[in-house]
Amino acid sequence: MNNEKRIALTGFMGVGKSSVARHLSYLLRCERIDLDDVIENGERRRIAQIIDSDGVEAYRGIETANLKEVLLKTNIRILSLGGGTWTMPENRDLIRSHGLTSIWLESTFGHCWNNIHFSKKDRPLARNKAAARKLFDERQELYCLADWHFIVKPDRTSYDVARQIIEEVFS
Ligand code: S3P
Repeated sequence: MNNEKRIALTGFMGVGKSSVARHLSYLLRCERIDLDDVIENGERRRIAQIIDSDGVEAYRGIETANLKEVLLKTNIRILSLGGGTWTMPENRDLIRSHGLTSIWLESTFGHCWNNIHFSKKDRPLARNKAAARKLFDERQELYCLADWHFIVKPDRTSYDVARQIIEEVFS
């Protein structure tokens, strides 16, 4: 078991990145952090407020600045990204250059949308289905650039996915 590996989880909104990260950190007994949480705590605003008042571009700047900080914390071995973090070339370079292994959690749009729709989290870039679908389609080729790719099926829990990641990535 390679316990030194650091990983970054990417994938579309609603795929379950944070839940898988929670299970991974429990199973591997290691520190994890959720980039969205870091941003909200640092900014003292919800992400929706940041995007609604400052715009997406400004949000991406804040996201990258926070990513840089988080990547320096070498005790954090499991990082769950926001759904758009990995789509920015600079962020992908940062994640790679800090030696993290990237993992794309892939699912169908229907599965992600269902989770988005029933979640309490306000996701400004997915407030309507057509906009979310467009982003989903545009991003597939970028998520594909991750080192690993795991398919999340509705009949598999985030615990199952975490177990599979450990078996395949950490062995
Ligand atoms: C975003 C995803 C969100 C959050 C922000 C933007 C995106 O995170 O970072 O609303 O661009 O896909 P989750 O993927 O955790 O919902």
